[in-house]
Amino acid sequence: MAKLDKIKELIEKREQARMGGGEKRIESQHKKGKLTARERIDLLLDEGSFEEYDMFVTHRCTDFGLEKTKFYGDGVVTGHGTIDGRIVFVYAQDFTVFGGSLSEAYAQKICKVMDQAMKVGAPIIGVNDSGGARIQEGVNSLAGYAEIFERNILASGVVPQISAIFGPCAGGAVYSPALTDFIMMTEKTSYMFVTGPKVVKTVTGEDISTQDLGGANIHASKSGVSHFTAENEEEGLMIIRKLMTYLPQNNLEDPPVTTCNDPIDRVDDVLNSIIPENPNKPYNVKDIIYSIIDDSEFLEIHRDYAKNIVVGFCKFNGTSVGLVANQPSFLAGVLDIDASKKAARFVRFCDAFNIPIVTLVDVPGFLPGSVQEYGGIITNGAKLMFAYGEATVPKITITLRKSYGGAHDVMSSKQLRGDLNYAWPNAEIAVMGAKGAIQILEGRKVKSLTDDGEKAKFIAEKEEEYLNKFANPYKAASYGYIDDVIEPRNTRFRIIRGLEVLSTKKLVNPPKKHSNIPL
Ligand code: HXC
Repeated sequence: MAKLDKIKELIEKREQARMGGGEKRIESQHKKGKLTARERIDLLLDEGSFEEYDMFVTHRCTDFGLEKTKFYGDGVVTGHGTIDGRIVFVYAQDFTVFGGSLSEAYAQKICKVMDQAMKVGAPIIGVNDSGGARIQEGVNSLAGYAEIFERNILASGVVPQISAIFGPCAGGAVYSPALTDFIMMTEKTSYMFVTGPKVVKTVTGEDISTQDLGGANIHASKSGVSHFTAENEEEGLMIIRKLMTYLPQNNLEDPPVTTCNDPIDRVDDVLNSIIPENPNKPYNVKDIIYSIIDDSEFLEIHRDYAKNIVVGFCKFNGTSVGLVANQPSFLAGVLDIDASKKAARFVRFCDAFNIPIVTLVDVPGFLPGSVQEYGGIITNGAKLMFAYGEATVPKITITLRKSYGGAHDVMSSKQLRGDLNYAWPNAEIAVMGAKGAIQILEGRKVKSLTDDGEKAKFIAEKEEEYLNKFANPYKAASYGYIDDVIEPRNTRFRIIRGLEVLSTKKLVNPPKKHSNIPL
């Protein structure tokens, strides 16, 4: 073959590979409101930055007549490119080829980019849209999944791993995304479950639709499996691009610092009166978050799950920060099982990737009751305690209002190695609220009083005495548990100054194989 013909051949082969399963299947993909694997990669990465690997790989299966049907690429597009100029490795499952089902060769392609990402220390982003194990390949497909799972596990805490679910993701296949750091799902077109509606019906008799069993909204609000929900794929991919702006490339790097045009000494007088006079009145902690961070830009994670705690990424003077805040406007900001798990996982992610943590505290305690106890609030609450206590990144805590009991200790307290613990003047740091405390301390006396008026007067007096003594930050400050009581309007500046001074913080945990977090 002449040289020019060889080049023509290459170009033709590339063209063929780019067509995936062919025009008809691409059309059908579009009709479902979905993009193709290559269209997704184009939107995700900087224009023209994608370098594809293994375009000419095909499967090696000879069962069920599969040897007669081969497609270049074999159902997954892999390679690397950049997001805002920073390298990421990607794979996108191509539903137009055998329903995006996973063969041995396909798994090897994914493993190759995962290995490269680990070698060079760059994030891995996987786009899932697949019918699961390629049925004709049997155990080779299962082995392929397990190869990927093992790499997900080893990459955890070394490079950020992000999963987008833009179609089916069912059976054991769900465990690769589940092992990654963040999951994004699209409304209506994506679903995740271990067993689908048909199996559920057969085994349990329950009648349930695909979306009600494992759609984006279910995983965003009920199971907490997914971290982000997007209306469509374009939006989902833009959110992933945004997410990457907060993250370092790997665990040995610091997160990127960007130019900040929001004045660092910007004071917000509104904050001085944002906390209601009545300590039982709720307010929206997000108003405080938006006020203190750079340009009010907050990338919330798990927005619709365990809303009693808010977590997400923001910047302070251009530095990435993981922000955790109790939310008084939902369940009074109480810590329950879901909130503890949500915040614990976030704190651990930040710690693994050198992202400082700012915690805004307004917590009345742990949620009481048999549902919580039977569900293991003990073990689950301990997760958050463990995550904060183990974290060695800079930790700044601002107590806005209540900080009671065990929840006080959990929420990045001084004794869990909080580096800077500030409180607003209205902070109440105590073992419990006045009502509960007086019931226990003065119960005997209250019982002995027979006159109702006298009883009420006595309780009110005692509660007042308790409030005067404990419903302020000065008791804790007198022991040095609080480093300073600050004016709310100065919070942004105090946090930025704190982050600056803590930027050279060095703290190392005792050597061990690994910790044993209460799972
Ligand atoms: C081989 C598959 C396939 C699979 C789909 N296809 N899934 N081929 N192995 N797992 C093929 C179809 O035969 C079809 O080929 C094409 O992909 C498109 O599929 P359709 O069914 O036409 O598409 P749609 O109607 O959109 O339905 C999508 C689907 C469905 C819901 C995903 O295809 C489906 O239920 N597939 C099987 C899912 C499954 O049971 N997988 C195994 C799960 S167990 P043609 O040529 O006709 O276009 C598992 C274990 C993993 O995954 C274990 C890891 C530890």
